Amino acid sequence: MNYEEVRAKAKEIMVPECLVCKECNGVACKGWVPGIGAKWTGNSFIRSFNYLNEVKLVMDTIVLKEQEAQDISIELFGKEFSAPIFVAPIGGMDINYGGKIEEEDYHRSTLTGAKNSGIAAFTGDGANDVYFNAPQKPLKELDGWGIPTLKPWSQEKVFEKIKVVEELGVIALAMDIDSAGLVHLAASGKPVYSKTPAELREIVEFTKLPFIIKGIMSAKGAQKAVETGAYGIVVSNHGGRVLDNTPATTEVLPEIKKVVGDRMKIFVDGGIRTGADVFKALALGADAVLIGRTYAISAFGGGAEGVSLYTEKLKAELKDTMLMTGCTTLSDITADKIIY
Ligand SMILES: Cc1cc2nc3c(=O)[nH]c(=O)nc-3n(C[C@H](O)[C@H](O)[C@H](O)COP(=O)(O)O)c2cc1C
Repeated sequence: MNYEEVRAKAKEIMVPECLVCKECNGVACKGWVPGIGAKWTGNSFIRSFNYLNEVKLVMDTIVLKEQEAQDISIELFGKEFSAPIFVAPIGGMDINYGGKIEEEDYHRSTLTGAKNSGIAAFTGDGANDVYFNAPQKPLKELDGWGIPTLKPWSQEKVFEKIKVVEELGVIALAMDIDSAGLVHLAASGKPVYSKTPAELREIVEFTKLPFIIKGIMSAKGAQKAVETGAYGIVVSNHGGRVLDNTPATTEVLPEIKKVVGDRMKIFVDGGIRTGADVFKALALGADAVLIGRTYAISAFGGGAEGVSLYTEKLKAELKDTMLMTGCTTLSDITADKIIY
C-alpha cells in the first residue's frame, strides 16, 4: 500500500462525511459541526490553512561545514520521539464521521500507527462516554503509548478520569479547555466549564502525568497557562470548531512564544498538512505539532499502516525542507529560515 492508495481508499469510505479533498483546507466542509468541518463560516480553519501556506521558506544550501544527515528526533515527556509530530485527538466517529468506523477501531489505528512510527497519538473525549472509554483498550494493548485529552468537566469528574488514565500508564494528559464552544456538547446536557488558573493548577498538582493545556490562542492566555505550572500548551482553535473568526493558530504563535519562552513546551495545530508545514510551525516558535483531519483520512484509508505511511511522508518532507534550508537538527529551525 502507498499513501495515494490510502487516500483513494479513504475517499471510497468517507464521502459524503469527508470529501477527502486534494487540499484539506476547510472550504468544502465549512459549517459542518457536528461533522468534520469548522463552526459557522468555517473561516477559523480556512485561515489557519491559508496563513501557513503564505509563510515562505528561505532556501540556502551553502553550508559552513560538511552537513550531517538531518536529525528530526525530539525528547518530550522524558521520552524519545522520532519526529516533532503527534496525531491530534479526534473523537465522535458516530456524530462526525457517520459511524463508518467504531471509536475503538479508529483509536487503535491512530495509536498503533503512531507508535510504529516512533511518534504518539492523542485520544479524545466528549458527550458520549464511549469517546473517552473506547481508546482505553488499545491504550492498554500498547502499554499506555498515547495521550488522552479530557474535556473540561467539573473538577470532580476530571479527577475520576485522571485516575483511570494514570492506571493505563499513559505518556501524558491533555485537556481541551476550549470545548465550552462545542455546540453538540452543550446540547447533550453534559456541562463543561471554563477553567480558572487555580483549577488548572489543582489538576497539575493532582496528577503525576505531564499536563498539557489545549486551546490557547493569545499571549494573555499563554501567560495564565504558564502560571499553572503545566508541562505545555497546544496553540489551537480546535480546528475552527469552537469559535468562528479567530486568527490562524500559527499567526498567534510568535507572540505566544515570546511570553512563554522556554518555561513550557509549545505544541500547535490547525491546517498543518505537510512536512514543510511542520518546519514552518517550528520556525514560528513551536516545539512540536499536532495534525488532525489528514491523520483521520489516513486511518480510514489504511488503518495503522495508513497512519504510519502518512507519518513517514511527513518526516521525509520535513527532512527535505531542512536540507534545503541548511538545517541539520530541529534547533536549527529558527525564524530567519522563513519569511512571514
Ligand atoms: C471531527 C473532529 C473531532 C475532534 N475531536 C476532538 C476531541 O475530542 N478533543 C480535542 O481536544 N480535539 C478534538 N478535535 C480537534 C483536533 O484535535 C485539532 O485541534 C483540530 O482538528 C486541528 O487540526 P487539523 O486542522 O489538523 O484537523 C476534533 C477535530 C475534528 C475535526
